[in-house]
Amino acid sequence: MTRYRIALIPGDGIGAEVLPPAEALLDAVGRRHGIEFAYDSCDWSCERYLAEGAMVPDDGLDRIRHHDAVLLGAVGWPGVPDHVSPWGLLIPIRRTFQQYVNLRPVKALAGVPSPLRSAGAGGVDLVVVRGNVEGEYSEIGGRLGRGTADELAVQEAVITRKGVTRVVEYAYAVAGSIGVAPAADLDPEREFPSMFEPVHGSAPDIAGRGEADPLGAIWSAAMMLDHLGHPDASAELLAAAFGALADGVSAADLGGTADTAGYTRAVPTGWAPRP
Ligand code: NAI
Repeated sequence: MTRYRIALIPGDGIGAEVLPPAEALLDAVGRRHGIEFAYDSCDWSCERYLAEGAMVPDDGLDRIRHHDAVLLGAVGWPGVPDHVSPWGLLIPIRRTFQQYVNLRPVKALAGVPSPLRSAGAGGVDLVVVRGNVEGEYSEIGGRLGRGTADELAVQEAVITRKGVTRVVEYAYAVAGSIGVAPAADLDPEREFPSMFEPVHGSAPDIAGRGEADPLGAIWSAAMMLDHLGHPDASAELLAAAFGALADGVSAADLGGTADTAGYTRAVPTGWAPRP
C-alpha cells in the first residue's frame, strides 16, 4: 500500500463543494490501485481572514511543506478584496513552494458541445503551460545602472479590457466551461509539494446551491495521481469522470441538469461511490 499525505484547502465558495467529489473518487480509485490518502484539511479562507486577520496562519506553509501534494478548491469571496485573498494564500503557496509551472490541459470531451465538435472526442488535446511565479512581458520598464553591481530592472504588466475580452472570448471554448478546467502548480524539482486546483474561482453567484460542476476538481485530482506516479489510476479516474459526459450527463454550466452530487453519482464505474 502506498500512502500519501495530502494538504486539503477547500478555501471559499464552491471550493468546499467540488473537493468532496474529487476526494471520494480519489479514495475509490486509490483502493483499486493500492494507494491510500491521508488528508489534512486546512481552514485557510476569506472566512478565516475575517475572523483572524490572516488567510493563512503564520506557520501555515511550514505545516504543509512536507506533504506529498496540495489539493485546493478556490480562493476569494465578496467582501475581501482580491489583492488580499489570492495574494494571502494562493500566490504565497505558488511562490514559496517554487511551483513555477502552471499546467492547464484542455480536451474536446464527448458530450460537451463545442465550436470544435467536428474534431470529435480526443481531437483536441492541448496543454497550456503558463509561467506561474514571474511577471508578464509587457516590455514597459527599463534598467538603471546597466552592467554595474547596482543594476536595477523595472518591468510593468499592462492589461487592457479590450485585450483581455478578445482573448477570453476566443478561449471559451475550446474548454466548454470554466467548471471543467483543471490546473496544476508544479515544482518540477519536487523539493516542495505541488498543488492541484480547478481553474475556476469560488463562484459566489452559485455557491451554496450544490450545483457547481465538480469535473474541474476531479480532473485536478487525476493530475495529482499522475504527478505522484500513478498514471494508470489517473487514467482510470479520468475515463470514468469523462464517461458521465459521454453518457449525456452534465452540470448546468454545460447546459445539463445534474447537480454536484448528481454528476458524481453518474460517473460510470463499478467502483466509484454512490453518495
Ligand atoms: P469564478 O470562476 O468563481 O466564476 C465565474 C463564472 O463561472 C460564474 O458565473 C460561476 O458561476 C461559473 N463557474 C465557476 N466554476 C464553476 C463550476 N465548477 N460549475 C459551474 N459554474 C462555475 O470567477 P469570479 O466570479 O471572477 O471570481 C469569484 C472569486 O473567486 C473572486 O474572489 C476571485 O478572486 C476568486 N478566484 C479564485 C481562483 C482560484 O482560487 N484559483 C481563480 C479565479 C477566481
